[in-house]
Amino acid sequence: MRLIKSVRAMQKEIKRLKKSGKTIGFVPTMGFLHEGHASLLRQSRKDCDVSVLSIFVNPKQFAPNEDLNKYPRDLKKDISFAKKEGVDIMFHPTELEMYPDDFLTHVKVNSLGGILCGQFRPGHFEGVATVVTKLVNIAWPDILYLGQKDAQQAAVLKRMVEDLNFPVKVKVMPTIREKDGLAMSSRNSYLSPKQRQDAANLYKALQHGKSLIEDGERHPDNVIESIRKFISLMNPAKIDYIECRDALTFHPLTELQGTILIALAVWIGETRLIDNISVRVK
Ligand code: PAJ
Repeated sequence: MRLIKSVRAMQKEIKRLKKSGKTIGFVPTMGFLHEGHASLLRQSRKDCDVSVLSIFVNPKQFAPNEDLNKYPRDLKKDISFAKKEGVDIMFHPTELEMYPDDFLTHVKVNSLGGILCGQFRPGHFEGVATVVTKLVNIAWPDILYLGQKDAQQAAVLKRMVEDLNFPVKVKVMPTIREKDGLAMSSRNSYLSPKQRQDAANLYKALQHGKSLIEDGERHPDNVIESIRKFISLMNPAKIDYIECRDALTFHPLTELQGTILIALAVWIGETRLIDNISVRVK
């Protein structure tokens, strides 16, 4: 595995690989790698000749009051994890390499980037869209791999890729979960053992919502309210949102039909967790 830190060296190496006809799969991450990241890497290895992983904790997607400084980092462990997963190139730039002092340009995906998480984290998706634009221009991949765990992020980035004609295919991979259902996330490392137990209820709450719909409930407010009660009974969590949306457009629904996404963002102590589940309404 090659570890590359400079943009110029990356672009040179990728150009060389492309010239020799290699296909490139790209998995952007913020590191502290887990099985969720590994599933994207495995798909990339299956599909492409060369797999590129980036590790960059992107300051632009964190608001000043958020967890940028305490975001978990362990480069040594990530390097051995990536080697084991057969990563060919790891791109690990510094902040200054990505955002020199004269940096001015930002990418904003309107409306889709302002709802749900975007409403509670203003500027977050602008930061994500900007860094992924840069990373795609640096890694020049054939396929970009994203996780359904961050469903809104995937929707925002797919929209961006389409709107701006990025010459890249996007593959969104299923959410990888712990045995008790908790969606894997680097942020789970913040949780105390008690909070870790509480966190598993989020997936149970989503499943509860799904079963209501499967049993015939068609009114989103009833599903949302029932999930809210389920979570409140289990633990006194602060809920940012629980929403039922069209899975493709993220539009709100007055009646549940088609494929819908139940998405939530809930605070367990100081840790904000997100999760979602999709339901096909018959
Ligand atoms: P990060 O949270 O490190 O996630 C990197 C990629 O792994 C994202 O596409 C995310 O959706 C996916 N992922 C995370 N947990 C997953 C799980 N349990 N199952 C499946 N996939 C999972 O998302 C980011 O970083 C950043 O916002 C980034 C896109 C790198 C831009 O900075």
